[in-house]
Amino acid sequence: MKSRTAPVAFLRMLNSVYNKKQKPSTAGETTQSNKSWWKEGILYQIYLQSFKDTDGDGFGDLNGVVEKLDYLKSIGITMVWITPFLESPMVDNGYDVSDYKAIHPRYGTMEDFDRMIYGLHEREIKFVLDMVVNHSSDQHKWFKGASSSRDNEYYDYYHWWPAEKGEPPYRHSLFDPEGGWDYVEAVDAYYLHTFTGNQPDLNWENPKVRQEVYDIMKFWAEKGVDGFRMDAFQFVSKDTTWPEFPEGHEKDYVKWYGLRPELHGYLNEMYNKIIGKYNVFAVAEGTGSTFEDAHNLVDSDRNELQMAYHFDAVNLSQTPKGYSLLDFKGVFSKWDNAFSEKGWLAIYLSNHDNARLVSRFGNDSDDFRTVSTQLLNTFLMSMRGTPYLYYGDEIGMTNIDMPNIEEYTDIEAQGKYQSALKAGADMEEFINTLNYNSRENGRTPMQWDASENAGFTTGDPWRRVNPNYTEINVAKQKTDPNSVLSHFKRMTEVRKKNPVLVYGDYTLLLPEHEQVYAFARELDEDKILVLLNFSESESEIELVELQGLTSEKVVIDNYEGTAVEGTCITLRPYQAILFSLG
Ligand code: GLC
Repeated sequence: MKSRTAPVAFLRMLNSVYNKKQKPSTAGETTQSNKSWWKEGILYQIYLQSFKDTDGDGFGDLNGVVEKLDYLKSIGITMVWITPFLESPMVDNGYDVSDYKAIHPRYGTMEDFDRMIYGLHEREIKFVLDMVVNHSSDQHKWFKGASSSRDNEYYDYYHWWPAEKGEPPYRHSLFDPEGGWDYVEAVDAYYLHTFTGNQPDLNWENPKVRQEVYDIMKFWAEKGVDGFRMDAFQFVSKDTTWPEFPEGHEKDYVKWYGLRPELHGYLNEMYNKIIGKYNVFAVAEGTGSTFEDAHNLVDSDRNELQMAYHFDAVNLSQTPKGYSLLDFKGVFSKWDNAFSEKGWLAIYLSNHDNARLVSRFGNDSDDFRTVSTQLLNTFLMSMRGTPYLYYGDEIGMTNIDMPNIEEYTDIEAQGKYQSALKAGADMEEFINTLNYNSRENGRTPMQWDASENAGFTTGDPWRRVNPNYTEINVAKQKTDPNSVLSHFKRMTEVRKKNPVLVYGDYTLLLPEHEQVYAFARELDEDKILVLLNFSESESEIELVELQGLTSEKVVIDNYEGTAVEGTCITLRPYQAILFSLG
């Protein structure tokens, strides 16, 4: 490891100079004439707590990222999003912030942060901060004040229902089986929370709250942050006349709670005060419930956000039964189609809120784990949109088997368990499904090598390491040219060398094929054919595009020696191959 010990003030200055030098366009049209670095980027998400621990406390930290900077550069990614590392009581692992300008000591210091962002920038990697401002922690000074007296200056920073008006109209909480309002005696009122009761929703209708948010964003933009990921953003604005919602409305949660019209005014304001001014970009978690909602968030002429991610694809595979490839193609094709002229999307299949990529969308058996992860990584980096890749998926980390509810520490899992119990659900089936789709699967420590605790920590890891770390780890894959990791590096190179994969038009081929996802990408003279066999059997396909193709036209292949005969090709299990048709 190289040690970099530039003085902190100097680093801060460099980070802000760096930020000014880069002039990313914040335009959003899906054409090459509207290029931007965040469209061309390859984003890698780090779940900090599980990435690399340098002080032996069992939690990953910022210095762990510093230690792995050269690794990040070596795998070819160009942007990093790190999950929250700010002061927090950690009810939701940092998605409950109690001080937006201070680093949680578990993760390090502000000096460590400065060193990390300097090191990233030095390697031409951009940094994206997770902004959790739909809600704060109940331990934030704003909420402490607000819940002490109705006269407190922070009272209107949150949504309250005064008890003298009776019971509040029902609001559903995503994490709390008891619902979205909690009572506070000192103010004789109920406050609203979309997530747990420890995460009270901020009142964005109050201009002072919005100003606080811009102030926080300014603070981080001046420290050199290149982008913001806006957590739970579609729920920020509320109808504060608090109408009754019909019974069962929560089944269509986003429709009732997402993207109210007022939000757009707030986003314009944010764009003018921060996004445009500091040349940063922002990506929203969530897209509302229609394509129009999504466009209204990210189209460049609206001057709001620049990118968004939808949930349709990750929602496909929620039970051990898996998903149908036809549905999968349908989701990605319809979204690409709706965004072919305007707007920009993130492309992802895994993150800290989901189970592991290969266990849900590929095949994590010993025979097919490697090839099927390679196929999924090829897919993510061949689509239009910015690929969001999740730590550990570059080596094919898998789900961890957790059949006992006692082992689950995540509040989402615990909340779901309580709701299932309350509803009288079949608990055996519930646990099987949880074991398959729980987000704890995606949060196990990074598997660096075959030493104790996978080289993640010298202490006791906060979460059990997946026992398969002796087989699946970075050290082992680094030297193997056929590994998931070596293929990942080749694929990031392919993506970077071929703007057609970033900006090119997308055409679905063989729409009815149940095993093979085939599509073409086209930009001016450049055309790439993408063939992905999503099955553990061979699949023979026929396509006119294959006419005349030879092995010299192969851009990347996760097998060797693939032959095309006429217009036919036999794809091997989970084969992923790109041909240049130009
Ligand atoms: C977002 C985050 C998730 C968190 C929730 C509450 O959905 O991605 O991890 O639990 O917001 O902040």
